[in-house]
Amino acid sequence: MIIAAIVAGGSGTRMGAGLPKQFMEIEGEPVIVRTVRAFLSHSLVDAVIIGINPAYYDYAAALPGLNYKRIHITCGGSDRNGTIENIINYSLSELSCSDSDIVLSHDAVRPFVSERTISDSIKALETCDICTAAVPETDTVAVADDEMNVSSFPDRSTLYRIQTPQSFRIGTFRKVWASLSAEEKAHATDVCSLYRSKGYPIRLIPGEMTNIKLTYPEDILFARSIIKDKQI
Ligand code: CTP
Repeated sequence: MIIAAIVAGGSGTRMGAGLPKQFMEIEGEPVIVRTVRAFLSHSLVDAVIIGINPAYYDYAAALPGLNYKRIHITCGGSDRNGTIENIINYSLSELSCSDSDIVLSHDAVRPFVSERTISDSIKALETCDICTAAVPETDTVAVADDEMNVSSFPDRSTLYRIQTPQSFRIGTFRKVWASLSAEEKAHATDVCSLYRSKGYPIRLIPGEMTNIKLTYPEDILFARSIIKDKQI
C-alpha cells in the first residue's frame, strides 16, 4: 500500500493569515485541497491521510474538497514529526497498514508537487530506505553567529534545499522512532534528520523550483503565478 501523509498540524504564524495557511484560499481553492488532489490523482497512491491541527479538525472534515472515500483525517501532533507519528499510527490501526507499506510524507502547504516527483519518490524506495525531494541551492549561503559575523561560506555546489515528499517504509520509521530520545525527537525538524541521526543514508531525488512551501505572505504571489501559468 502507498500512503500520502499530509502534515497539516501547524498554525501558520509567519503567514499571519488569521487561519492556518493550509486553509487559505488561493485563486478560489484552499491550499490543502490542491495538495491532496496532487496525491489522489496519482495512479499509485492508495490513500491520503491528513494530520490536522486539532483545533481545525471539524473545519477540515467539512471541506467539500476533502470529502472523498480515500481521504482520511486524524489529529496532528505538537510538532511536525509528531504529526507524522500520529498519521502512521492511524494507518496501522484504521487502514491495517504494515511495515512494508510506503509513506510519502508531504507538507500540506506545498500544493504544487508534481506527478513526476511522486513517481520518482516511489521508485527510489526500491533501492534506498529514505529519500527526499531537493533542489540545488541557488544563493550563496553564509554561516554566521548571533552577532551576524560570518564564520564560513560553504561550497554552494554541495548544497541542496530540502523539499517534500520525504518517503520511507513504515517499518524503518517505527524502528527509528522507537530508538530516539525525547530530546532527539524535539531537535529534528524533519524525518530525514531523524533517519540521519541513526546512520541511515539519505537519497536526494530531483525536486522542482515550483514545489514551493508557502511560509510568508510573499509566497502567495508566486503561488498565484504558478496556478495561472500551469492553469491548475
Ligand atoms: N506541521 C504539522 N504539525 C505541526 C507543525 C507543523 O503537521 N505541529 C506542518 C505544517 O502544517 C506544514 C508543515 O508542517 O504543512 C511545514 O511547517 P511550517 O511551514 O513550519 O508550518 P507552520 O508551523 O504552520 O508555520 P509557522 O512556523 O509559521 O507557524
